[in-house]
Amino acid sequence: MEIFTTGALLSDYLKKKKNTGKTIGFIPTMGALHDGHLSLLKNAASKTDLVVCSIFVNPTQFTDPKDLENYPRPIEKDIRKLEDSPCDILFLPDVAEMYSKGEVWQIDLGDLDKILEGKIRPGHYQGVTQIVKKLFDIVKPDYAFFGQKDYQQFMVISKMVDILKLDVKLIMCSIIREPDGLAMSSRNIYLSKTERIQALVLSRALIRTKSEFDQYDISELKSNAVNAINIREGIQLEYFEICDGETLMPVSSKQPKSLVALIAARISHTRLIDNIILK
Ligand code: PAF
Repeated sequence: MEIFTTGALLSDYLKKKKNTGKTIGFIPTMGALHDGHLSLLKNAASKTDLVVCSIFVNPTQFTDPKDLENYPRPIEKDIRKLEDSPCDILFLPDVAEMYSKGEVWQIDLGDLDKILEGKIRPGHYQGVTQIVKKLFDIVKPDYAFFGQKDYQQFMVISKMVDILKLDVKLIMCSIIREPDGLAMSSRNIYLSKTERIQALVLSRALIRTKSEFDQYDISELKSNAVNAINIREGIQLEYFEICDGETLMPVSSKQPKSLVALIAARISHTRLIDNIILK
């Protein structure tokens, strides 16, 4: 695996590879890699000739400076994991490489970056689109791979790709779960043993909603899930919504072509998100 720390060198290198007909698969990450990331790498390797992964803890998408400061950065471990996985190139820039001072970014995403996660973390998805656009400009991937776990992020990036007419195909890869159902996340390492057990209520509520989908209407599905979560100790539910799978607007009927249930909750100081596609 080759490691690049500057965009210019990586861009030159990849341009030469592309000129020889190689296709590029890209997985942007913030590190603290787990099996969810590794499955994205495997997906990329099955579809493209060259797999590029980036690790960059992007400051502009953090709404809480403490969260940014405390975000896990186990870089040596991450490099070892990537060396054992189908990854050809790691892009490992620092903040000065990716941002100039006083840089601003604003893309009109309509309501998509103001609802659900965007409502709780205003500006978060502007930061995500800003860094993903910069990374796409450097890597110029044919395909970029993202996890379903941040479903809204995938929709936001798809919208940016449409608006800016970027020449990249986005692939959403299924959520990878622990054997007990907890969605894999870089933040799971913050959970104590008790909190780890408490966190299971998230995936269980989603699985229950999917299994009850044909039996109840939308408002009953929502109240069943919310009640099941609220009787548990240690969980602060931020939202549980059943939304149109494309616009992410909450629905009151099952009519839209696709439906997704999304959840966010705090377990002590750790914030977790999860979702399940219902239709
Ligand atoms: O999903 C993530 O890890 C980040 O939001 C991303 C896409 C790498 C942008 O920083």
